[in-house]
Amino acid sequence: MRPIKNGGIIVSKNILEAPFVKEMVEVTTNLYHHGWDERNGGNVTYLLDEKAVTEYLDPTKVVRNIPMDFDGSAIKGKYFIVTGSGKYFKNVKNDPACNLGVLRVADDGQSVDLLWGYTDGGKPTSELPAHLMSHIARLSVDPENRIVMHCHATHLLAMTFSHDLDPRAFTRTLWQMCTECLVVFPEGVSVIPWLIPGSNEIGKATAEKMKETRLVMWPQHGVYGVGRDMDEVYGLIETAEKAAQVYTYVQAQGGIKQTLTDENLKKLADAFGVTPRAGYLNL
Ligand code: 13P
Ligand code: ZN
Repeated sequence: MRPIKNGGIIVSKNILEAPFVKEMVEVTTNLYHHGWDERNGGNVTYLLDEKAVTEYLDPTKVVRNIPMDFDGSAIKGKYFIVTGSGKYFKNVKNDPACNLGVLRVADDGQSVDLLWGYTDGGKPTSELPAHLMSHIARLSVDPENRIVMHCHATHLLAMTFSHDLDPRAFTRTLWQMCTECLVVFPEGVSVIPWLIPGSNEIGKATAEKMKETRLVMWPQHGVYGVGRDMDEVYGLIETAEKAAQVYTYVQAQGGIKQTLTDENLKKLADAFGVTPRAGYLNL
């Protein structure tokens, strides 16, 4: 591609070729094909290095400023690629520029500067409070965290109707449904109360739990996951969802006759060098 002179800065690369755009296209397409993001369900935010962004975009060229009604000043100046509100994940691969946006948290912490995307005049996901608050919370315990992902994973969602919502009980069932689970999420999963989606209240509740676990259940709605890269967060959700699917089959087959014992789980943790969340095993 020929270099483009853009506001005095030579921007020589096509953003549709940017690895972070490709990763967003790939993950939203996969989430759609899993059936976890019907219609406009789900949202993804990906924290980007300034250097990666400025290879493709002129940071001085703000397309428009979009207000938010919560305080994002802890991450002012940070860049994210974010799925659009009301956008269908099935459509992202055919039109990334309409369905995704690259934005920077403005200096006032109360708005974001759009640098690219949402070409039809769209906005970032309505779940931006939960995402940005979760980024802030997660970065405080893991400075390498980059991604927050929300989806309507079918069997996990179903479990929030039929299973005890106590996080210890919920975690233990998932750990028992597949030997890999304890190794993948030894810290367990959190569960928050049912709250209005898109609200600051659900954002605060989610972010608080993100300091302890990388998976947070939203009862009767879906799941939130975080991770350092797409594989980590996608793999986390996929593993928990698989366990929930097995649980669904087990219930349909007449219920549990035998399962992983707490001794099995302890041996597993020792073999793989992970520490199960304190107090979650009966030993
Ligand atoms: P958005 O389309 O605003 O991202 O909302 C989808 C969703 O899943 C809300 O929880
Ligand atoms: Zn949702």
